[in-house]
This record gives sequence, structure tokens and C-alpha cells, in this order.
Amino acid sequence: MKRCDRSPVWAELQAHYAASGRGFDIRAAFAADAGRFGALSFEAPEVFADLSKNRVDVPTLALLLKLASDCDLGARRDGLLRGDPVNTTEGRAVLHTALRAPAGSAAPCNAEVQASLDAMLAFAESVRRGERGDITDVVHIGIGGSDLGPAMVVQALQAFGRRDLRLHFVSNVDGHDLAPVLAGLDAKRTLFVIASKTFTTQETLANAQAAKAWFLAAGGTDIARHFVATSSNTAAAAAFGIDTAFGFWDWVGGRYSLWSVIGLPIAIAVGADNFRALLAGAHAMDQHFATAPLASNLPVLLGLLDIWYRNFHGFTSRSVAPYHQGLRRLPAYLQQLEMESNGKGVDLDGNALSLGTSPVVWGEAGTNGQHAYFQMLHQGTDVIPVEFIAVKRSNHGVSGELAEKLADQHRKLLANCLAQSQALMQGKTAAEALTEKAPTASATLDREVLARHRSFPGNRPSTTLVLDALTPRSLGALIALYEHRVFVTGALWGINSFDQWGVELGKALCNQLLPRLDSGDTAGLDGSTAGLLTRLVAA
Ligand code: F6P
Repeated sequence: MKRCDRSPVWAELQAHYAASGRGFDIRAAFAADAGRFGALSFEAPEVFADLSKNRVDVPTLALLLKLASDCDLGARRDGLLRGDPVNTTEGRAVLHTALRAPAGSAAPCNAEVQASLDAMLAFAESVRRGERGDITDVVHIGIGGSDLGPAMVVQALQAFGRRDLRLHFVSNVDGHDLAPVLAGLDAKRTLFVIASKTFTTQETLANAQAAKAWFLAAGGTDIARHFVATSSNTAAAAAFGIDTAFGFWDWVGGRYSLWSVIGLPIAIAVGADNFRALLAGAHAMDQHFATAPLASNLPVLLGLLDIWYRNFHGFTSRSVAPYHQGLRRLPAYLQQLEMESNGKGVDLDGNALSLGTSPVVWGEAGTNGQHAYFQMLHQGTDVIPVEFIAVKRSNHGVSGELAEKLADQHRKLLANCLAQSQALMQGKTAAEALTEKAPTASATLDREVLARHRSFPGNRPSTTLVLDALTPRSLGALIALYEHRVFVTGALWGINSFDQWGVELGKALCNQLLPRLDSGDTAGLDGSTAGLLTRLVAA
């Protein structure tokens, strides 16, 4: 297996970067090539992608594709999909794609997957039909991959949910998360879903214990009926007192688990058919990833662009701006997906890497982000590629005059989205600013100085992904697109994208510190931790 920086194509890319990549001007590229949009925009299932406002051209992409071929990316993808143990440090296959393969397909473990899916969906439907009592509220307790995916999807698909069945998500060990959720609930009408792959996670177990105590104190009696678990450790769930536990397999990574029984709250919220549509959308993207030529394979192209920006341009961050309020949790979800997967410092053989890996992924729904950090994106000293997500059709579920008003707001939303990527690319010279009269500008400041403040460098790159509508199917495809893109960059960097050892040290130290919060004992601690602990426990 070849790491990308050990491929001879890497040196070709370095030379290409020095010759034309470093000074690449997107505006000049558009001026020189009327077909640029057509050449650099791509169709994948449910997702259209415009890559033309990036610092790439067809020759750059061709070289990046040559790198992918030289590193046997296709073979590595096939190994992932086939169920090779690509998670080497944990000795596991990584088969989230098998979770969305249709019944009867040749995908690994299809019979078990379908049985598990059918059982989970039947339970979800029984809750929706009221067969588990008059359930009005579902509290999902989990963290990380056992929270972010379901929470993001339930929010994104709110239009497909029911008003009389409310979903709540609690993740933080901070009781300020759980307490306000419980405050408004009736124990007899509440179902708790305890979601933890390992069923050992401190935060989840603490919240689950607290929820159980609240349930009993609030008049609840039937724990078995009001608590269910989704876990690959069903024995621990049983020990907790939970009778109904939906199990899954160690080859489902936490941050890739929303397609498994961990998706139970999604199925309760939107129903079995919509959950199957989510899976079908993801499967369509899986097929695209598996079969499309690399040169038109969207996850591959996005991954290669990420390598170009991270390792050649040296950009350390990428901002995600979904122009749909339903996708406001997508940046948080992507943070775990990308940064927990690819925030690694050694390759598969344990060699320290001398190239950058995961960028910082962050963002906020548009247009809100425009009134917060977009100033820095436009005029700050760092170049941060932005990924816009535009949704062509809205689905507000209202009628009459309000529908007309919101349709107009949707046009405004799309205009804002287009305007931001245009402004980032176009910029504004000081000479242009000099010709303008800005109503709020100082009348006494030197005009040249003012023009410099009001100029924009431009040439700031962005990608725009377009969905026709935000539906279970399109959302499934979008999430799978991101999953595969993360695989592509991780595979080329030669890292294990499927472990997360970096989270362990903090957990271990927390367990050691916990008793000291009672005793106040600071013996053997570093000066800062000792000082802070003393401050926190002082009467
Ligand atoms: O944060 C580390 C982590 O292991 C994540 O990878 C995982 O999604 C999360 O904790 C929750 O783990 P579990 O589902 O086992 O409770």
C-alpha cells in the first residue's frame, strides 16, 4: 500500500503547485475558459457539485487523479466495501455500507443486517402506532457517534416527523443537558433510548442512571417498557435493567452508526419508509463511489481537493455552510466524522507523518454565519475554503399567505448563498472601492485608507453542493458522500480512519481525577491541575 507522499506523483504535484498552483487565480481561470463551470461541476446521486470556484483546473485534477491511481485508491475502496479488516488497530472490518445495501444483495452480512433492520423498524412503528403506551416524548441518550448522527438527521427531517411525537437528545455529562429535557416530561408518556455501542461510556451511563432515577421518582414503574437500548454490548444493557436491546456489530464504527439500530430515534421520528429511503439514498451514493470512474467520482474528487488544499496550499481549516436551517447540526456531525476519523499523526505502520492530516472542520447554517465569522472568511489573513450547501426547493409545511412569504424568504436564502461564494471569489480591489460611496463610512478619513479597509482580496475558494430538496433520500446520499470523502483522504494519507485512540487518554485521566474532586487531594498533580482542582473544590 502506497502513502500519497511516497508516490512519485507527489513530486509532480509539488512541481505543479510551484509552477501554477500557488498563484492560481480563480477569476482569471474563468476569464480564460468559458467551459470552466461545465468541466468542473459533477453529478452524483441526489447531489450536484460545483467545484469550479476552487483553485483547481482540469490539469490539476488530472494530476491528483493520477496520484489516486498510483496509490491504488480503487483497490483500497474495494477492500473497504468487501469487508477487509481496514481498521487495523482494532482488527475489524468497516462495513457501514452493508447496513444500507438492499435486502437480498450480495453485500456482506446481508441476512443479519436485514433482520436487525426489520426488528428495529417494527419497534419504531409500534411506538408510532401507540402500541408501547401513549408515548409523546422520546429521550435519546448517547454521545459522539451515538448522538450526533441521529440528532442531526432528526432535525434535518423535521418536516417528515409528527408534532405529537417529540424527540429529545441528551449527550453531555453536564446535567444542564438532561435536567431541562426532563423538566417538561410526563414519565408515563416517555420512552428512553439508551444508545451506546460499548455501553461503557461515562456520559451516557451517568445520564441513563439519572433518567432512570427520575423516571421512578416521577411515578414511572415499568422500566422494561420505558427504557430500550441500542448497543453492541447487549449484556451490559441487560445488567442495567433493560429488557429490550437492539444489538449491532463491532464492524459498525460509532461515527458511522446512524444507519444501524443507533438510528432508532430517526425511525421513530420519521417512520420506517422514510428510514428506508435514507438508507436507499446512502446506498445510491455507495454505488456511485464503488463504480463511477475516479474522474467523475464525487467523493474521490472532493477528497483529492482536500489533499490539494491541505498538503499543497497548506490550508488548515474548512468551513461548512449549509443554507438550510434543518442542516444546522451538520457541521457538528461532520466534525466528528472527519476530525475523529482523520485527525491522526501516524500511518498504518506506525510511522510519524510529515504531512498534514485532518483540517479543522467547522461552520454554521447560512445566513446566520454571514453575520458572525464570514467577515474573517472575506477579509481575514487566512484562506479558508468554504463548502456551501444549497437546497433548491423548500418544504415549510405551511400554506396561504405564510407560504408565499416563506417562498420569498427561500429566494433570499438562495441569493445569499450564491452571493457569498461569488463575493469570496470576486473580491474587490482598492481602486474599485475608491469609486464607491459607502453611506456609513467616515467622511474625514483619508479616501485611500478607507478604500484599503473596504477592499477584498478575492480568489477565496469554495465548493457548492446542491440538493433538489432535503428529503430522507437526498440526506442519506449527502451523508454517504461525506463518509466516502473522509475515507478517500484517509486512505491516501495512509492512516487508519476508523480508530480514535486520541480520545482515550482524557477518559483515563478523568477517571483518576474524579475521586480527587471529593477528597481535594492534589498530591502528584502538575501545578496547574492542582491549582485549578483546589479552586474548584474550595468551600
Ligand atoms: O468519543 C469517543 C467515542 O468512542 C466515539 O468514537 C463514539 O462515537 C463515542 O465515544 C460514544 O461511544 P459509545 O457509543 O460506545 O457510547
